[in-house]
Amino acid sequence: MTLANEPRRFLPLAEGHGGRSSMTCLYRCGNACAHPAPNSSENAYFGDAVTAEVSRRGIFKAGAAGALVIGASAVGATPAAAAPTGRASAAASSTKPASGAGLTFKPIPPNTLDTVIVPNGYDDQVLIRWGDPILPGAPEFNVDRQSAAAQARQFGYNNDFLVVVPLDRRFSRGLLVVNHEYTNEELMFRGYAGGATATVEQMRIALQAHGLSMVEVERVDGTGEWQVVTRGRRRYNRRLTATTPMSFSGPAAGSALLRTQADPGGVRVLGTLNNCSGGLTPWGTVLSGEENFNQYFVGADGAPAAAKPALARYGIDISKRYPSGSRYWDKADARFDLAKNPNEANRFGWIVEIDPYDPESTPVKHTALGRFKHEGAALAVADSGKVAAYMGDDERFDYMYKFVSDRKLRQGSSKSDRENNRRLLESGTLYVAVLGFTSASEIDGSGKLPSDGAFNGTGRWVPLVRDGKSLIAGMAVDEVLVHTRLAADKAGATKMDRPEDIEVSKVTGKVYVALTNNSNRGAAGRAPADEAAPRNANKHGQVLELVEDGDHDSETFKWSLPIVCGDPADPSTYFAGYDKTKVSPISCPDNLDFDAHGNLWISTDGNALTDHTGTNYHDGLFAVAVEGPDRGKVKQFLSVPRGAEQASAAVLPDNRSVVVSVQHPGEITGATVDQPASTWPDGNFARPAVIVTWRPDGGEIGA
Ligand code: FEO
Ligand code: CA
Ligand code: CA
Ligand code: CA
Repeated sequence: MTLANEPRRFLPLAEGHGGRSSMTCLYRCGNACAHPAPNSSENAYFGDAVTAEVSRRGIFKAGAAGALVIGASAVGATPAAAAPTGRASAAASSTKPASGAGLTFKPIPPNTLDTVIVPNGYDDQVLIRWGDPILPGAPEFNVDRQSAAAQARQFGYNNDFLVVVPLDRRFSRGLLVVNHEYTNEELMFRGYAGGATATVEQMRIALQAHGLSMVEVERVDGTGEWQVVTRGRRRYNRRLTATTPMSFSGPAAGSALLRTQADPGGVRVLGTLNNCSGGLTPWGTVLSGEENFNQYFVGADGAPAAAKPALARYGIDISKRYPSGSRYWDKADARFDLAKNPNEANRFGWIVEIDPYDPESTPVKHTALGRFKHEGAALAVADSGKVAAYMGDDERFDYMYKFVSDRKLRQGSSKSDRENNRRLLESGTLYVAVLGFTSASEIDGSGKLPSDGAFNGTGRWVPLVRDGKSLIAGMAVDEVLVHTRLAADKAGATKMDRPEDIEVSKVTGKVYVALTNNSNRGAAGRAPADEAAPRNANKHGQVLELVEDGDHDSETFKWSLPIVCGDPADPSTYFAGYDKTKVSPISCPDNLDFDAHGNLWISTDGNALTDHTGTNYHDGLFAVAVEGPDRGKVKQFLSVPRGAEQASAAVLPDNRSVVVSVQHPGEITGATVDQPASTWPDGNFARPAVIVTWRPDGGEIGA
């Protein structure tokens, strides 16, 4: 809908954390922000960590530009000095300049309208919503006649990351692959009064509403519009849920830490939980990140004492049997009771690989990529053929990671090529990021730009596991991979402002990291502001740009912050030096994607900016050039309904459609099915849904 034809309506907003309803905090993250951030490690800040590392190794590994000196003004003073130096970024000079080409649309204003708003000249349509049938025999959705058996064959709840993989050469038909991050039972079931009084059938429905959906879609009349295929065999349609059998791969498969009564071998697990973002591999599989898995478990107070420190480091409440907001899933399945099955939580928090082209395939949880609150994984291939996976651990003061495969990608499509590629994520080096700064002494927590004109610095990828062996004293390899946060604490990793989605530009090879916010930055007893997290009580977040020294398998890099988010009138914001009067306000960057021109598309979660009445503006989708004269010119493309998060967007390869995940509409404290805070998309109660937006005139998205 465009602004011209939108009926206006205003409803009061009950506030939770920042721009987020407290209901979202409860159901999505298990109230993460209400609890102390679980990283209480005294892991050294950059100065200490690097000094120790330098003396241990003798020298900071030289980058392609020559040996680096540690400390203030170690690298050049301007972002230009952090320019591409190697193959990972060499494409920048050899391909067409991405100087904001393709972003001539007129931005929409920030707003509080209970619908999806797109720019004039665009159309939008719901593709699929929670409960829509996708497998044979699935009933039509009926909010009053839900069952676990029905939900197992219907589209799941709270769609997040999505991708459309082609099903034919012309890409007129595709398979929409979607994560379902979490359930909000208050908005699913009439009269729901909390986990303690929930029925076992409600719990089983919620288990089936998690996971992923795969849905065949087709282009409408050669345009940018897409629709769900509703006839014929639809052989690729599939549901994965919290009970679908999956296997473990890699060095920690079979570890004692993964063994349970039901799986004494530690190699097989039921289901996937809290699937947030993800990625597509060059060999055609889909990766999905298990994020806030902690919230599904109960009984940690009764777990063995030896298991408790690690449970706590992953945000599991070890003080009581049923933490507030518990779903009481132990009543439906005892494996969620950590007093009885203390290792079950270790079986979540992984990157899952799924082959969408083989509906019979068993999804694989790759232990080589470590276990944390995985936002997602972004893949890039080095010239060596090795595959790098960039990954964020979305928690305040947690870390950014990279995995580099031992094996090399094979481009062919023979059986042996496919088998090789399917094993790429089974073994490799797992690193965590340690950042260095150029202007450390000037960072005061206000967000004031340093005198060298940039928030920037160097970085090292510190290995935790290499050649199947642990590099962390006192931890075996399976301990490092299952308790990766504890290993990274010991490695002196840099505490960041909630590393969310990461995306690699196919045009330049540069890596972009969404750092969404961090209410605790600079708080008493917490890490102070630093050059990569330059604001205390960071409400609006920032975007980090990372350029490897050489290639994606490098162990050093340069970084800078092209965007420090917020209201452009706020002096603590930064838009790569672009004229701030010409950019859209943006808050809480979460998920990232690129269009065909190399422009970055940013989805937001938890917009903390407000209108003149104090009402939070809704989340949205923003596009920004990251190269050329328009670098930093953020433009708002879309906004989502009340209480919703703009969870994820995929610009399709022909640049004529954007598929958008509208998550948790109406998720405002006090809202119910009968008293909804949003009536999107059908005018009755709120249902999470995936939409597509396109230009009826056939033009490119954004242009
Ligand atoms: Fe599920 Fe980090 O957002
Ligand atoms: Ca600087
Ligand atoms: Ca992404
Ligand atoms: Ca999100």
